[in-house]
Amino acid sequence: MSTVVFLGGGRITSAMLAGLRLGRVNERLVVHDRNPAKLRRLKKSYGVAIEPVLQRAVAEADLLVVAVRPDSVRELLRSLRGVKRPLLAVSLAAGVPLRRLKAVLGTPVRWGRAMPSPACRSGRGLTALTFSREVSSRDRKRLRDFFSSFGLVVEIRENKFDAFTVTFSPSHGLHALATLAAVAARIGLDRKTALLASAHALADSISSWREGKHSLQSMLAEAATPGGIAAATMAGMDADGYRRAVQVGVMEGLRRARANAR
Ligand SMILES: NC(=O)c1ccc[n+]([C@@H]2O[C@H](COP(=O)([O-])OP(=O)(O)OC[C@H]3O[C@@H](n4cnc5c(N)ncnc54)[C@H](OP(=O)(O)O)[C@@H]3O)[C@@H](O)[C@H]2O)c1
Repeated sequence: MSTVVFLGGGRITSAMLAGLRLGRVNERLVVHDRNPAKLRRLKKSYGVAIEPVLQRAVAEADLLVVAVRPDSVRELLRSLRGVKRPLLAVSLAAGVPLRRLKAVLGTPVRWGRAMPSPACRSGRGLTALTFSREVSSRDRKRLRDFFSSFGLVVEIRENKFDAFTVTFSPSHGLHALATLAAVAARIGLDRKTALLASAHALADSISSWREGKHSLQSMLAEAATPGGIAAATMAGMDADGYRRAVQVGVMEGLRRARANAR
């Protein structure tokens, strides 16, 4: 059995552990974090092993998952400069490029990057992967298999990683849900019904589109009869800059991701 060590026991680690537990993976899972209370919670919730001493945690790893926030990555990796054995590592840090990871902790560590989302908690997530050149095909398969245990995996070039990160966040759906429900409450629905109606509006048709039987265009045409209420609603949104608002937000996210590369 191989050992996967997570450095950072925060939100995304917790979501991945939940997804991994659903899939009953055959790996030993160890978490290191600087907060003992977080480690205790993770042990209790997911039955993982915990290791409060960084060097000891890393010494156990066959696969290292770096899950600290982008501005903590450099400091964390600097304290690992003593690592002398070959090690496969994957960083989840948004915006932090492979060249920066390798500059702080290079050979014998082989680096990949992964971008999962909290949706992996349900076992139905999506993770993008990219690898540095020295990662062998065997190691690539190892990473694909690991992230496949809680959802789909796509491999993309590193120069597309920030665009993927900004686009696929479940925050888009949740933000749209919160916004639509707030507006529905303003036009008269009670909060519970507003949320229920909005959740169905957003989730049902998208789930059905993902089954792949119908095109997006045909489903949009079916949902919005010309001259009808839905068509008028969409036209009103578009005329008031719906697409522009999405574009402005996405560009802001992209700028934020690129700032992490510095
Ligand atoms: N959350 C997501 O949906 C998501 C999705 C994909 C990728 N990611 C990436 O995953 C990474 C983690 O995100 P997150 O949302 O899980 O962050 P988080 O909730 O803040 O978790 C990070 C954890 O690492 C700990 N930590 C930081 N520096 C450390 C160090 N030097 N030694 C030991 N522990 C340390 C933090 O402790 P403190 O609380 O004391 O700082 C915190 O408990 C980020 O780089 C993010 O870009 C996140």
